[in-house]
Amino acid sequence: MRAPLPDFPWDALAPFGDIARSHPDGIIDLSQGTPVDSTPEFIQTAFREASNSPSYPLTAGTPELRAAITQWAHERLGATGDFDVLPLIGSKELVAWLPTILEAKKVLIPEIAYPTYHVGALIGQAESIPVGIDANQWPIADLAWLNSPSNPTGRVHTVDEVNACIQWSRNSGATLVSDECYLDFDHTAKSFSVLSQTNGDNSNILAVHSLSKRSSMAGYRAAFMIGDSQLISRIREFRKHAGMIVPLPVQKAMTVALADNEHVIQQRTRYNGRRDLLRPALEAVGFRVEFSNSGLYIWCTRDEDAWVSVEWLAHRGILATPGSFYGEKGANHIRIAMTATDERIKSAVLRLKA
Ligand SMILES: Cc1ncc(COP(=O)(O)O)c(C=O)c1O
Repeated sequence: MRAPLPDFPWDALAPFGDIARSHPDGIIDLSQGTPVDSTPEFIQTAFREASNSPSYPLTAGTPELRAAITQWAHERLGATGDFDVLPLIGSKELVAWLPTILEAKKVLIPEIAYPTYHVGALIGQAESIPVGIDANQWPIADLAWLNSPSNPTGRVHTVDEVNACIQWSRNSGATLVSDECYLDFDHTAKSFSVLSQTNGDNSNILAVHSLSKRSSMAGYRAAFMIGDSQLISRIREFRKHAGMIVPLPVQKAMTVALADNEHVIQQRTRYNGRRDLLRPALEAVGFRVEFSNSGLYIWCTRDEDAWVSVEWLAHRGILATPGSFYGEKGANHIRIAMTATDERIKSAVLRLKA
């Protein structure tokens, strides 16, 4: 029998949302990391223009979308050698179902991580084993998740660390899945894809990407994977049976989104501008920032229980996420997301200064 799924963590945050909402100038929600900047107009147009969609779309993706992902993988990620691509209904869907699809029994997850890696292992009745980044210490398993830049810490793994993970996969024949959904949001650290490190041998290697944050398309549910052709073929077959098909208007919108980098640069500039305002303001009220040099989040601590920090901020109308949502090692940290408008971020800074 499957182990029960954990309580949905965000429910525990709701009372602090109520406290923050009672602030006279309203809540500044920096908790969930849901994009607030508009989806670029040209992407919305492509979506609208494909709204007459009477036929079933292809699970494998339209030829145009497949070509756009392939070109992007070559040019943006530096992927080489043989690989295949597959669109996804958001990357959370894959994270939650991959252990089931691949029938993995042991899944390695980062010790401070996006909670769905663990939930996916539970759904697949697999054992989830939290591990540090040093793959030389990793036990035998069927599947391992990498996430750089990391949610929640914003840590970017080094080339040596990622190569040790690839080596672990090659030695053990296990699947290495690199969740790279924050790759486009570099700040002071330069992130890179696992596919740039495989020297064209992508066996047992998968990279997962999402347009939710890159292109502010979280509401579209648009993501994709790239990597080992045999593994992707297996996953595609499963998905064909299970009805996991990306809607055609979304596929059209993804195709144009991937062909443009200008809007991604603008979004990165926005997020980094917000980080540059918030970081010193948090430090001035005693938070010590760790990692946080890429991605979408500030990871920080006042060396107190995370809920104490969350409550202190909630009384200033600011909602943050307790690090305990991401594993035991996050119990004294909080995560702050850059996903509020510039106006709200400036007002958060003023509230912290007051
Ligand atoms: C590390 C990580 N992976 C995957 C996801 C899922 O994103 P989506 O389903 O929107 O593609 C998230 C969302 O926050 C995330 O932080």
